[in-house]
Amino acid sequence: MKFTRLAFVALTAGAMLISASLPAAAADSGKFLADRHMARGVQCVSCHGTASPQPGAAVKTESCNACHQSLDAVAKRTQKVDPNPHYNHLVGLDCVECHKGHRQSVNMCAGCHNIHYNVP
Ligand code: HEC
Ligand code: HEC
Ligand code: HEC
Ligand code: HEC
Repeated sequence: MKFTRLAFVALTAGAMLISASLPAAAADSGKFLADRHMARGVQCVSCHGTASPQPGAAVKTESCNACHQSLDAVAKRTQKVDPNPHYNHLVGLDCVECHKGHRQSVNMCAGCHNIHYNVP
């Protein structure tokens, strides 16, 4: 986990160096998921399938998985988290059940369990 966070910081720093077009706030990892992706050069179209998403726009799990492969693949990355948010009795959850694009993400497990997650 530590390694991943460090790699992410290094990636962001690298992107800042090579791209002058990034907004100044782009490196702020405290921003929402879409902001952090855009800081890495991910465009609206990569998540939305269109360059100009409209109000009510959604994101399909397949769009996330074009880069993140699958729920199983991300489950490997969080296998030390107990219980694993990506591997549980709710088979095949959509990413956006928890990961929100432009607002605070949600721990949907907490609707039934006393499980604490900090969802990025
Ligand atoms: C990392 C993926 C990602 C990127 C990149 C991204 N979005 Fe989104 N966007 C989402 C997700 C997920 C939602 C679903 C709503 C939510 O939970 O935030 C969403 C929802 C939206 C909505 C609908 C919001 C609503 O409440 O009706 C709009 C409009 C939108 N995005 C615009 C954009 C624009 C414009 C860009 C590029 C500047 C962009 N998005 C980049 C993931 C992304
Ligand atoms: C165009 C490629 C691309 C798309 C599409 C994409 N991501 Fe990412 N995402 C990345 C990259 C690159 C990173 C940074 C390296 C890593 O952690 O894999 C990242 C990191 C993340 C992280 C951890 C770091 C952080 O800032 O939170 C989460 C969580 C994440 N993505 C979720 C999603 C979700 C959910 C979607 C769909 C709504 C999505 N991604 C769509 C490329 C993408
Ligand atoms: C049940 C809620 C939930 C769902 C559904 C979910 N995630 Fe996550 N995700 C989390 C939580 C919680 C974390 C943070 C785990 C931790 O490190 O504490 C996380 C972390 C991540 C990370 C960062 C992993 C790392 O190495 O730190 C990525 C990438 C990611 N999710 C992608 C996805 C994608 C892609 C999907 C859909 C295929 C998805 N997630 C579905 C809750 C969820
Ligand atoms: C709609 C309610 C509901 C939601 C949402 C939910 N669970 Fe459960 N969960 C249950 C019930 C019911 C059981 C079985 C009774 C029990 O052991 O509490 C259970 C059992 C479990 C168990 C113990 C048994 C097993 O299968 O290993 C774990 C761990 C667990 N859930 C994790 C999660 C995680 C992680 C999430 C979010 C991804 C989640 N649950 C979301 C209702 C829910």
